[in-house]
Amino acid sequence: MTNSYVAELRDVTMQFEDKLVLDDLSLKIQPQDRLVILGQSGSGKSTILRLILGILSPNSGSVFFKQFEITRLPRRKLQRVRRHIGMVYQYSALLSSLTVRDNVALPLEETTDKTREEVDRIVDEKLELVGMKDTRNLMPSELSGGMRKRVSLARALVLEPELILFDEPVAGLDPVMSSVIDELIITLSEKSKVTSIIVTHEMDSAFRIATRMAMLYQGKIIEEGKPEKLKQSKNPVVSQFLSGSTEGPILEEISDASTA
Ligand SMILES: Nc1ncnc2c1ncn2[C@@H]1O[C@H](COP(=O)(O)OP(=O)(O)OP(=O)(O)O)[C@@H](O)[C@H]1O
Ligand SMILES: [Mg+2]
Repeated sequence: MTNSYVAELRDVTMQFEDKLVLDDLSLKIQPQDRLVILGQSGSGKSTILRLILGILSPNSGSVFFKQFEITRLPRRKLQRVRRHIGMVYQYSALLSSLTVRDNVALPLEETTDKTREEVDRIVDEKLELVGMKDTRNLMPSELSGGMRKRVSLARALVLEPELILFDEPVAGLDPVMSSVIDELIITLSEKSKVTSIIVTHEMDSAFRIATRMAMLYQGKIIEEGKPEKLKQSKNPVVSQFLSGSTEGPILEEISDASTA
């Protein structure tokens, strides 16, 4: 059976020791979706991204990237499939001993046999796309947080991924830089037909980027759909999360847990 979704989690349960993080969760990502995953700290958002990358295996259920069942692929095949998925990590995860150019070139050098000239051309093209071409010879320590994020995005793009996973792409950035990154995410999906999944806590950014949203709570997707649908949600957890209010079920559950 072929899968017309770019990615899918099907009845996924993920438990770490006795902590149930994802509880029979299902989620589908359509081509060119920009799906924003919302949820409290510790709710399992990064876990979802790691499952799609095949870094983690679920206790039960299946994870698909296109027609490939990530959970069943042999290691070598998984490595090959993973090249079609770009990941922008929360803390940029650039190698501090390498220049910007070498950081961005790394996936190409590790997985292709392109010549130095070809690699340089691709690196320059991707750095140009994120407005960072002038920094190619700098070290990561010489860059601001926003610049590092952009370099990290350039690195995620060099293998021309079909799906990009963003873990908190604008956390810690100023509002202007956040908008720049948001615009880049939108441009990528519109011009390059890339599908993306974005985990974020920043509501302004979430509503700017999202074509769809999913709210994760207590191991399940409790609301999913167009941004408008989440805005109008009658679910008290969703409306509390979107408004950032201290009144509602979210803190009650935390204080219940801490007094238990
Ligand atoms: N490898 C692991 N071993 C044990 N527990 C883990 C592991 N990875 C995640 N967890 C636990 O699973 C839960 C969900 O973690 P996850 O990182 O997915 O949360 P998150 O929603 O991304 O949170 P944040 O918004 O703070 O980044 C947390 O309670 C975390 O402690
Ligand atoms: Mg996380």
